[in-house]
Amino acid sequence: MTDRPDLRGRTLLASGFHAPARGTIEELDDALIAIGDDGTIISVTRPGDPGYDDAKREASRAGRLATLPAGTILLPGFVDLHIHAPQYAQLGRGLDVPLEVWLHRYTFPLEAKYADTAFAARVYRRLVDDLLANGTTTALYFATAHIEASNLLAEICLERGQRALVGKVAMDDPAGCPAYYRDASPEAAVEGTRAVIEHIRAMPGNGGGRVLPVVTPRFIPACTDAALQGLGDLARACGCRVQTHVSESDWAHGHVLARHGMTDAASLDRFGLLTEGGVVAHANFLTPDDMDLLAARGTAVAHCPVSNAYFAGAVFPLKAALEKGVRVGLGTDISGGPIATILDAMRGAVMVSRMLESGVDPDLAPGSRSRHGGTRIDFRDAFHLATAGGGAALGLPVGRFESGCPFDALAVDCEAADGGIRLWGGEAGDDLLQTILYTATRSNLARVWVGGAPVR
Ligand code: GUN
Ligand code: ZN
Repeated sequence: MTDRPDLRGRTLLASGFHAPARGTIEELDDALIAIGDDGTIISVTRPGDPGYDDAKREASRAGRLATLPAGTILLPGFVDLHIHAPQYAQLGRGLDVPLEVWLHRYTFPLEAKYADTAFAARVYRRLVDDLLANGTTTALYFATAHIEASNLLAEICLERGQRALVGKVAMDDPAGCPAYYRDASPEAAVEGTRAVIEHIRAMPGNGGGRVLPVVTPRFIPACTDAALQGLGDLARACGCRVQTHVSESDWAHGHVLARHGMTDAASLDRFGLLTEGGVVAHANFLTPDDMDLLAARGTAVAHCPVSNAYFAGAVFPLKAALEKGVRVGLGTDISGGPIATILDAMRGAVMVSRMLESGVDPDLAPGSRSRHGGTRIDFRDAFHLATAGGGAALGLPVGRFESGCPFDALAVDCEAADGGIRLWGGEAGDDLLQTILYTATRSNLARVWVGGAPVR
């Protein structure tokens, strides 16, 4: 296993878990996962299935059988549905002020530095390597407003083997963006976006679409109506997904209500910016009608529980959105969220769902601390959102072990001495899975594969 970690064209014998649908955890016990030369799963068979013994014998005879070591558990790779790549250079800093101050004081000055592609290359290489080491096999990235540095991020994802969706940030409104960091006009915002889409689609080695382009208006407060309309038209013409921020904080939500006389979601829809497979981040103040609209359009929410604690002033009503049929995945929202792993987004999602349910004001009596009953999710839901849920949000067949899906996966070494997992003997099933999800650290992620190829 360790000598030949490339699993393309091989069959893996492994035990692990996946959560192909919400509420469904499937345990794989000595499963045989046959992987094609192109890194796609051909079949998953279990002991007792017809052909299992023959397939195992044949793979072994042909020298194609790889076996995960004892104590190592296979999980699907994680999907990060919302991440600002340039902000990795300020991870863990500047979270002391509200969103609108943070953008102008810290974030726009930092992002402006990516005019320097040498700086961009240094940060982006480190980021992509760190995310892969943390188990993020698919990432939906905001780059910056620069064409060259956005192209570079896409190239680095491809070079490092990460499955990625990359968008040049469109931000042209002089009322919301500083003169030193904005698109020169609505046309420049649209044409710059088009240039990056074309570059990504034409990158040598990207014929399989490992890296995809995304139309990326930053958010309504940073864009003119002309740019929003032009970007909606471009997304339709190019058949591109769209990502943006929606109703993140009271200020951002209020800005759109005051400027357009309707909610963020309703306004984006007028411009053709709510697309199938598209993603809106945060979405904390969605109305029930907004949720219906997102569900009808097939546009997902990137739930960013860690970042919301700093900027939102509210908890995303996850359960309500799921019950209305909205697709949801998880985002780190680097650097609004100061932690570069989806493991923490999972933990945060469970935690804030409990706080929304119970309420948080200790001066109130237990029964009257919250108006929200039944909002809690558990580790099973969080695991699904972080994997297959994120894949479904994007309309990509990732996050689960099924034939036809690329083999994007993690080998979790539960015995790594410097990892966070401590097992005492006999843990299995739910106990084992929740121990992994709550306590794993980077050191436990012994191997990471994207499309069957080792990337860590
Ligand atoms: N809204 C507009 N831009 C940003 C950003 O960079 N981070 C977050 N969290 N919200 C935003
Ligand atoms: Zn964001």
